[in-house]
Amino acid sequence: MKIIKRVSEVRSEVKNLKDKKNVIGLVPTMGAIHQGHISLVRGSKKECNITVVSIFVNPTQFGPSEDYEKYPRDIQRDILLLQEEGVDILFMPSVEEMYGKKSLVSVEVSELSEKFEGNLRPGHFKGVCTVVCKLFNIISPDKSYFGWKDAQQLVIIKKMVKDLNMPIEIVGCQIFREQDGLAMSSRNVYLSPEDRKNSIALYSGLKKIKDMVEVENIRDTSSLIVEGKRVAESFSGVELDYLSAVDTNTLEPLDKIKGEVLILGAIKIAGVRLLDNILIKLK
Ligand code: PAJ
Repeated sequence: MKIIKRVSEVRSEVKNLKDKKNVIGLVPTMGAIHQGHISLVRGSKKECNITVVSIFVNPTQFGPSEDYEKYPRDIQRDILLLQEEGVDILFMPSVEEMYGKKSLVSVEVSELSEKFEGNLRPGHFKGVCTVVCKLFNIISPDKSYFGWKDAQQLVIIKKMVKDLNMPIEIVGCQIFREQDGLAMSSRNVYLSPEDRKNSIALYSGLKKIKDMVEVENIRDTSSLIVEGKRVAESFSGVELDYLSAVDTNTLEPLDKIKGEVLILGAIKIAGVRLLDNILIKLK
C-alpha cells in the first residue's frame, strides 16, 4: 500500500493508473477505521482495480463546540487494517495540504443540508461537501463509496455529484452493525460500558417500526414514529434528537409508507450523538 501525503503526488500516481485503464474506487474516511469502513473498502475492491482510501479528519465539518480535537485518531492501526484489506493507495494529507493558508471556496447543497443533522450542526454539510468535492478533484475516481449509516450525507453527496455534473458514480453501502445491532461508528468508543448497553435504543425503535410495517401492515407514518420514539426513549439516558420517515431522494417527510421510505433518526446518550436509519422497501 502506497501512503501518500501530497496532492500532487497522489494525482500523478492515480493518473498513471488511469492511463493504464484501471477503474479507480475512492473510499473517503476520517480514520479510526472500523468494520463499517472496511465494508466500503471491500465494495470498492470488488468493483474496481484500484482502491484509494483517504483519511482526513476534516476540520471544516466540525462545529466550534464539537469533537474535532478529541476525534479518535490511530493512524498506525488504520494503516495495518487497510494494508490487510489490500488497499492500493492511502491518501492522508495534512490540513494545510488540503486547505492551504486560506481557502475562500466552499460547496453547499441547499435545502437537503438544512434538515436533520444540518439543522443541529450548522455548516456541517458545507464542510463535508467541500472536502468531498476537493477529494474528487484530487483523485478523479470512477466510483466513490459511502455508507448508508450517514444517510443524509449520502443523499447530499449524490445530489452534489448530479447537480455539478461530476463524472463519478456514488455507491451507497449498507450499514455494518455490531452483533446487538448498534451501527458501527468511530464515535462509539466514547460510550461507557453502561451507555453502550443503552446505545441500541435507536436501532430498537427502528426495528420496532420495521416490524409494525412488515408484520402489522401499518402504513401511517405518524403512528409508526410515535411508537418508534417511545421504544427509543424507554432506554435510560437517551435523548432523541429526531426520528422521521422521509423520501430517499428529497428527504421530505412522508405521511404513508409506500415504495421506498427512509426512517432516519439521531439520539444523544451521555453527550454522544449516534445516528441510524433503516430503509423500508414495499413492493
Ligand atoms: P467517517 O465517519 O469516517 O465515515 C467514512 C465513511 O464510512 C462514510 O461514508 C460513512 O457513512 C461510512 N460508514 C461509517 N460507519 C459505517 C457503518 N457502520 N456501516 C457502513 N458504512 C459506514 O463520513 C465521514 O467520515 C466524513 O464525513 C467524510 C465523508 C469522510 C468527509 O469528511
